[in-house]
Amino acid sequence: MAMKKLIILFLVTVSVWSINAQELSSPDGDLKMKFSLIENGSPAYQLFFKDKLVIKSSKLGLELVNDKKSLLDDFTIADSEVDSYNQTWKPVWGEVSEITNHYNELAITLQQNETDRIMIVRFRLFNDGLGFRYEFPQQKNLNYFTIKEEHTQFAMTGDHTAFWIPGDYDSQEYDYTESKLSEIRGLFDKALTDNASQEQFSKTGVQTALMMKTDEDLYINLHEAALIDYSLMNLNLDDQKFVFESWLTPDAQGNKGYLQAPCTSPWRTIMVSDKAEDILASPMILNLNEPCKIEDTSWIKPMKYVGVWWEMITGKSSWSYTNDFPAVKLGETDYENATPNGTHGATTEHVKEYIDFAAKHGFDGVLVEGWNEGWEDWFGQSKDYVFDFVSPYPDFDVEEIHEYAKSKGVKMIMHHETSSAVRNYERHLDTAYQFMKKYDYPAVKSGYVGDILPRGEHHYSQWIVNHYQYAVEKAAQYQIMVNAHEAVRPTGICRTYPNLIGNESARGTEFQAFGGSKPNHVTVLPFTRLLGGPMDYTPGIFEMDISKLNPNNNSHVNATIANQLALYVTMYSPLQMAADLPENYNRFPDAFQFIKDVAVDWDDSNYIEAEPGRYITIARKAKGTNDWFVGNVNGVEKRTSEISLDFLEQGKKYKATIYADAKNAHYKTNPQAYSITTKKVTHKSKLKLESAPGGGYAISIIEIK
Ligand code: NOJ
Ligand code: CA
Repeated sequence: MAMKKLIILFLVTVSVWSINAQELSSPDGDLKMKFSLIENGSPAYQLFFKDKLVIKSSKLGLELVNDKKSLLDDFTIADSEVDSYNQTWKPVWGEVSEITNHYNELAITLQQNETDRIMIVRFRLFNDGLGFRYEFPQQKNLNYFTIKEEHTQFAMTGDHTAFWIPGDYDSQEYDYTESKLSEIRGLFDKALTDNASQEQFSKTGVQTALMMKTDEDLYINLHEAALIDYSLMNLNLDDQKFVFESWLTPDAQGNKGYLQAPCTSPWRTIMVSDKAEDILASPMILNLNEPCKIEDTSWIKPMKYVGVWWEMITGKSSWSYTNDFPAVKLGETDYENATPNGTHGATTEHVKEYIDFAAKHGFDGVLVEGWNEGWEDWFGQSKDYVFDFVSPYPDFDVEEIHEYAKSKGVKMIMHHETSSAVRNYERHLDTAYQFMKKYDYPAVKSGYVGDILPRGEHHYSQWIVNHYQYAVEKAAQYQIMVNAHEAVRPTGICRTYPNLIGNESARGTEFQAFGGSKPNHVTVLPFTRLLGGPMDYTPGIFEMDISKLNPNNNSHVNATIANQLALYVTMYSPLQMAADLPENYNRFPDAFQFIKDVAVDWDDSNYIEAEPGRYITIARKAKGTNDWFVGNVNGVEKRTSEISLDFLEQGKKYKATIYADAKNAHYKTNPQAYSITTKKVTHKSKLKLESAPGGGYAISIIEIK
């Protein structure tokens, strides 16, 4: 940890600014920021990219509840320090095997005149963007304080194009809308889709990570890093001035955060580049998180899995065991004598079929949902005691399944649907994790469907953010990996706790069976949701006509098969599901081969070409090998992609297997039309491939030894 103190190198006085203006440059000099105290001693910053203004003068500060004075103005600069840092670190799993953390830092110590309180604003300027946070050191005059609102501004220079989802305290499961900032208000209601728990706060409220593009083709991304013991930040737009301001998630009492000094806020992040690919490649969010706190990480292993899941999501089978009862009470319901409904998915026999399928095709794990008592009425009733996470249904023999999976070399993946009864989950957490250890489950998929209990809390308020963190840290003590659905969207905490191997926290594949998602959804997610950490997107759907699985479900999966294959590369995750039913994979064994071959952990990644909402092409090198996998996902317009394989090692020969859309493929009318070709390639090879609307391609490039 060689934190090298420099002399205050960049301390400059700019004539139009007050004498308190300070400036900082990124290591490569492309980004510059200025800090200043403006009217009444209010802190403010500006950001420039290649000498052009990107963030106009934007105020900083916090409004407090019932306090003598808020932390908004009346400040003077008591001290300022400039540092720089340049180190590399190795993630336990990731898109690359080594990450460079290189930044210049400016820490401004502000003293409030009237109260004598101290607040530090720490800026870290990387080549890929700016991160800054508030710090509250231990001090006499500021101990406990309650946040009414954080007033961090991000003032845009114009009416940029944004890829946004509605700001919400409870859900991120929305399709993205592409529009000018000035159009958000008019499109807001149209951008809403139903969810079991949701609450918006403003017609110009949006969520982070917010991806934008300016008329000068600059890419700007607003997000946050290291969301710990604080509530989630949405953004509210002043659509006259194009100024975003932080809008935190309230608790049941309407307050937005309870802090005790010494403490810090999460980092607020602004990525900037004139190349869209740079946003995808940026490790800034991870770099702003603390190093790994788990000493022995040998038990954390990326996994590819199948599961008893899509059949319930599509309505082909059910999570519940019986239709006998309109409602159930755990411990009081006589499941032993109940009539099985005949549609229950998680039966011992059926799970064994999945284990066989996983073993045959080399998958690491099998997820089973609906294995435990309580699914007859599991959400929507504000019910506290829904599940105990240890009581299997009569037709699910946990011991037998455990033995069978073990004999086949397959791991079982646990499912804990909490139905958002968060206190109930905490009450059962130790026994639930112990149960997992007993039956050798290395990972749990948790879920938070419905409104949060304690009542009035939101999915993203501070108390619940602390719960998700508690569940991850406790899991680490048990050496358990966590994949949390409906939890707060990730902010790079997987660097510190790499047992957090996945999150949903966005609109995943399940929505393709709930009426469908936009065909270009997957060309936006890597620019937004995925910046904070991997997503359990659950790709790999081959049968797009859902009525073939369930005649009562007319949903259509808006993607081609080639697009579904590409997702294993473009949607980075150390946890990847092959989500479709075995019978659908058996119909297309040649395309399924790619899912079997593709890696889940990488030494290197090459972000070949990308444009949010349009296309993304990424090549990744499988960990510990010379093999590469390429994925291209395409938006709604047919497109020709020309790529060079210059990332391959010189002097080596490779066999490329190309899984492409057939000429007449189309996500809606002809999604299963693909072609598979092979050819020998080297680092000099160039490929020209056509991607259908909602299509793409996937390539495996295996070294010929
Ligand atoms: C919503 C999750 O996203 C989905 O994957 C899960 O199957 C259901 N909740 C039930 O827990
Ligand atoms: Ca979900």
